[in-house]
Amino acid sequence: MAIHSIIIGTGSYLPPKILTNADLEKIVDTSDEWITQRSGIKERHIAADDESTGDMALAAARNAIEAAGISPDEIDGVIVATTTPDRTFPSVAVKVQGELNIPSGLAFDVQAVCTGFVYALTVADNFIKLGQAKRILVIGAEKMSSLVNWEDRTTCVLFADGAGAVILEAKENNDGLDGQGIHSTHLYANGKQRDMLQTTGGVSTTGDNGHIEMQGRDVFKYAVSYMADVVKETLEHNNITADKIDWLVPHQANIRIISATADKLNMSMDKVVVTVDRHGNTSAASIPLALDEAVRDGRIKRGQLLLIEAMGGGLTWGAALVRF
Ligand code: ACO
Repeated sequence: MAIHSIIIGTGSYLPPKILTNADLEKIVDTSDEWITQRSGIKERHIAADDESTGDMALAAARNAIEAAGISPDEIDGVIVATTTPDRTFPSVAVKVQGELNIPSGLAFDVQAVCTGFVYALTVADNFIKLGQAKRILVIGAEKMSSLVNWEDRTTCVLFADGAGAVILEAKENNDGLDGQGIHSTHLYANGKQRDMLQTTGGVSTTGDNGHIEMQGRDVFKYAVSYMADVVKETLEHNNITADKIDWLVPHQANIRIISATADKLNMSMDKVVVTVDRHGNTSAASIPLALDEAVRDGRIKRGQLLLIEAMGGGLTWGAALVRF
């Protein structure tokens, strides 16, 4: 019997404050037309000053636990994907573990910027497949607004805050691709491209967090080609064609990157979960936020095949094929 990681529950949290493109027009020299045309973003959620990544992660986690119908003491692992932790240490994951009264098991953060959730999902899946954990809470949570230079119009219009979570549970099945669970994960990084999207500071260099700076045009170009490659690899690895995918759940950076990937798959946009217009780019939180929205509104149903993909700073990129 093969062990698979099944998603038994999803949850999410968005801070109540909404920042529209019209609001941004008052902060920097930009326009609703430019932001909409270049990115597809119309509005985004921004956390309150006293609301941390950990607070948002906790809210999403509670949601996912309720959806899964389990108790926190049945969880034996917490992995949080984030680039914007509450503190340099300890991790956001231990805060979540402590606040939820999860009695034991592993807890740590993963940092792969916008690809963080796919990395965290992969790590959790591997722990489960190896029999080292039975139920892992995987969270993507970010307060990107705290890393943005609010005077830099090239980045401040793109990034936003929020959190999403899933609970993975070990289940034995031998049904091949028809069986529920994560069927494959594919991770990549190219550290030679680390300057393309980075912060201007850090703990062991400037002593502060710095701000996001991005060579947007180059990132865009690589995003489209890396996404196409990893999605193709995922389909070939599982011996399927794109028409077998029920839903594409992509990282929400830019509607043009999302459409380009759907185009390469010959997939209609009706089968793509899009939240970038309302959520902006919430980095590691964007995929679990999109997943939870589509599960709760009934678009994603049990038994459907999901293709998850992301690309971000590093550069890093990756994909996962999941039978929900
Ligand atoms: N409002 C108005 N004008 C602007 C703005 C703005 N907010 N920002 C830039 N401009 C101007 C530029 O100054 C430039 O003007 P110029 O021609 O006079 O020099 C012009 O608009 C075009 O700028 P580009 O950067 O070439 O615009 P582009 O079409 O490439 O769109 C964007 C920019 C949206 C950033 C796009 O390149 C993109 O989405 N890149 C990928 C981002 C991404 O996917 N990141 C993924 C991971 S994020 C992570 O890992 C944290």
